[in-house]
Amino acid sequence: MLRKGKMLVVVGSLLLFGTATLVHAEEDMQKQVDAVKAAIPKFAIPMREVGDRFQNMYYAAKGGNWGLAFYMSKYMNGAMNPAKLTKPVEYADWANFYSKTFDPVNKAILAQDVKSFEKEYKAVIKNCNECHVAMGYGFIKVKQLKAPADQGIDYSIKSKSTDVPK
Ligand code: HEC
Repeated sequence: MLRKGKMLVVVGSLLLFGTATLVHAEEDMQKQVDAVKAAIPKFAIPMREVGDRFQNMYYAAKGGNWGLAFYMSKYMNGAMNPAKLTKPVEYADWANFYSKTFDPVNKAILAQDVKSFEKEYKAVIKNCNECHVAMGYGFIKVKQLKAPADQGIDYSIKSKSTDVPK
């Protein structure tokens, strides 16, 4: 009888101890996840890349380097990926912008149509800035640069928009 009682106490303590350890481990894990999330960029850091790739894209298209133009657009969108996790609500607005508002620019790149590209590119700058205003960043006004943001690439190499590896 006594032995059985002792056994129960031992098992019970082990269970309690085990549960406490598990709860602790879970809290610890959540803390680590939160810390990782806090270290992932939100909008400001990816937007720097969006800004530069957007400027570069223009000179690539004008130079007939359509592969580079498409590449710049693809990674302009890809740059925003961290915001999927850190700013999901605002990211939805970006996703909507890229898939709809920005689509005419992408279509012009795919068609390698420089005239239509020029028109759509210039038009979309207004939409970039509308989102800045809507999100309380009206003081960030995109304007076109007189040269690409990144000078370390040859924009005049001739390529096709389909040259970008999948
Ligand atoms: C969904 C809304 C949205 C759209 C669309 C958008 N932006 Fe932004 N952008 C922001 C926000 C918000 C910030 C401020 C970042 C912050 O502080 O979190 C920003 C900041 C910027 C910055 C300043 C980055 C820095 O810190 O130096 C640039 C440059 C920029 N955007 C370029 C663009 C360009 C170019 C486009 C269009 C191709 C564009 N943005 C479209 C929301 C948007």
